[in-house]
Amino acid sequence: MNIIAPSLLAADFGNLEREMEWFNRSEADWLHLDVMDGVFVPNISFGFPVMQAVAKLTSKPLDVHLMVVQPEKFIPQVRDLGASIMNIHQEACVHLHRTVHAIHEAGMKAAVSLCPSTPVETLTDIIQDIDVVMLMTVNPGFGGQKFIEHSLDKVRRMRALIQQTGSKALIEVDGGVNRQTAPRLHEAGVDAFVTGSAVFGAPDPAAEVAALKQLTGNRDD
Ligand code: DX5
Ligand code: ZN
Repeated sequence: MNIIAPSLLAADFGNLEREMEWFNRSEADWLHLDVMDGVFVPNISFGFPVMQAVAKLTSKPLDVHLMVVQPEKFIPQVRDLGASIMNIHQEACVHLHRTVHAIHEAGMKAAVSLCPSTPVETLTDIIQDIDVVMLMTVNPGFGGQKFIEHSLDKVRRMRALIQQTGSKALIEVDGGVNRQTAPRLHEAGVDAFVTGSAVFGAPDPAAEVAALKQLTGNRDD
């Protein structure tokens, strides 16, 4: 699968309506929304009022990436946004099993993210219950960072864990995804690609999405 998920973090916040116009007519599959609390990550982005405004401007699925402590507190608000995927960090959840099931009960898909230093094996006992595993390919908190090369090996190990356990989880990556890294990630077994600066910073963002879509197509597996 090659899902392309542009990350709104890299958008021109003074022109969100215009950004959503190209997004809607592009081949983008999901809209990735980065919420930061200044505690889990050393930065603050945007919150529910901004996401509510943006949610009205698209009918594509929303992938809400919560870089916040205690993300379980926000399940009703993320559901009320109409999000398809609630994306939480393993490092932020003591009771991950309970939270994943609460997300499902709220009618959303559960994505669990891992920071670069968190091993894939930490998900061994929950992988069957989750819909998406998101591997951070930069340290969360900022757009435009350099891709961490070690991530490719981590994707391969996550793919092996998914196969061993018979899990149906998709593998998503976030950070430093561009024309150079996307094909390599695809080859390693990634299904969904978050991309911020590479797409929003391109002269023609919709064409950049199309290019990424093509570069990540046709894997035989
Ligand atoms: C980083 C965010 C990413 C970010 C990616 O903490 O989770 O979604 O927007 O940006 P790029 O693609 O510029 O690395
Ligand atoms: Zn993100």
